[in-house]
Order: sequence, then C-alpha cells, then structure tokens
Amino acid sequence: MVQGFRQVPYNDLNAAREALSPATVAILIEGIQGEGGITTAAPDYLLGLRQLCDEKKLLLLMDGVQCGHFRTGRFQSFQRILEGVPNGERFLPDAIAMAKALGGGFPMGAFWVRDRYADLLGAGTHGTTFGGTPLACAVALKVLEVIHRDKLAENARTIGHYLQSELTRLAGKFPQVLSAVRGLGLMIGFELASNIPALAGNEKAPSIQFVNRLHEAGLLAIPAGNQKLRLLPPLNLRQQEAEEGIKVIEAVIARLAG
Ligand SMILES: Cc1ncc(COP(=O)(O)O)c(C=O)c1O
Repeated sequence: MVQGFRQVPYNDLNAAREALSPATVAILIEGIQGEGGITTAAPDYLLGLRQLCDEKKLLLLMDGVQCGHFRTGRFQSFQRILEGVPNGERFLPDAIAMAKALGGGFPMGAFWVRDRYADLLGAGTHGTTFGGTPLACAVALKVLEVIHRDKLAENARTIGHYLQSELTRLAGKFPQVLSAVRGLGLMIGFELASNIPALAGNEKAPSIQFVNRLHEAGLLAIPAGNQKLRLLPPLNLRQQEAEEGIKVIEAVIARLAG
C-alpha cells in the first residue's frame, strides 16, 4: 500500500467525509473496483465526492487503469455510470490514471489532467525512463483508431450485456454455485455462493479453485478475493466467442452443482 492514504469503505460518502483531515489533499477512487471485486460506484457517490472535493478544495483523482479505456462502453467508466443521470454530463474528476488497454498490450501508462491544472507539470517535470516515448504513443493512437474503426465501445456494451444476462441466467439456474453477477460492459464479476461442497476442505480459496477449473477448460479469468471472479475479455470479443465462453462457464458450474 502506498503511504499516506486512508482507506475508506467504498460507496460510502460519509466515510470519505469523516476520513478527511486538514492534511488531506485529494481523494482517489476507481470508477469500478477491479481487485476489489467489481463494485461499481453509485452515481450519487461520484456526484457527492465531486461536491465534497469542491467544497473542501481537494483534488478528485480517478484510477481508470482497469475500468477505463472503453471497457465499460465509454472512454471512462464514470461517463457510463452517469449516463442519463441529472447533471451527470457535467461531472469531471481532476485527473485520471490510465494504463493497460491504453497501449493494447504495449506497456504504457499516462494520466489526464483537467484543463485548469494542465500547466502545473511542464514537460520534463515528471521524468521516467520511458516517459513520453513516441513509440508507445504511436501504438496508443493506433489502438484508439482501431477501437473507433471497429466500434469496440459498442461491442463492449453489447457483448457485455449478453455475458451479464447469461451469467444472471446461470445464477438463477445454479444458485447453489453462483450468487451474484455485476459489472458494466466487459468488466464483469460474479460471486460464488458460500459453502459450495465441491470446493470445501481445500486450502485454496474457492475463487482460485474455480478459476483453475475454468483455465483447465480453456477460459481465462482471474479471482478477486476469496469468493469472486472477474472476466475482463478483450474489447473485440465476438458473439460466437462469448457464447463459447458461457458454455465453458456453465459446464464448470454444472459439475460443481453436481
Ligand atoms: C486499478 C489499477 N490501478 C493501477 C494498477 C497498476 O498499474 P501500473 O502497473 O500501470 O502501475 C492496476 C493493476 O496493475 C490496477 O488494476
């Protein structure tokens, strides 16, 4: 953990307010928690944090490393979360950290800063060995071009919706294995029921055992905590591949429900 942060419960505006001290300069959150198990910020939480930061003159920083770059169907997750919410379009954090999908697999990180702070860091102020590398930037531009050309934001919405509705169907069919499904676009999480007999009595957490079974069956997923799994498929996942993936998940679940 990075020094100097106070951790507070997510989606709890009062907890954030109560954790402030005169030394607080910023609040940092993910729009959708990744490692935390795919918990999406409530629209009121985002708007409330913005108001709190304006009121106390704090920076509102967002980590879009995992949930950003069109994974939810919009460039940043907060844009998707706040769609159709009154005043939602006016919401802006002060800075956004980005990486992962930004370079489509090529190592790259970047951050966006709101206009009014854009001159605080001049060129060269924030030096890193590979900072500003033209090759990474060229790759990132190409990635953006392909996302636009192939309508991958729309794809993330459509296929994400399909996957979530299928997983919800499976949760209804096998409640003894799958207890909840959440996420937005192609950032999807599902929670395992507690005490699945076939996963009991093993030193490995249920989520890891489940992930291992998926891997053996040919599907890549990752755990989040002991009871949750994450699906973060590529944005160009096709319908047929999504159907194939669901078949694999269903087979693994059905064996566990046995
Ligand atoms: C939400 C989030 N933020 C930050 C990071 C770290 O990013 P980086 O490896 O680019 O520092 C990760 C994972 O690697 C992550 O999931």
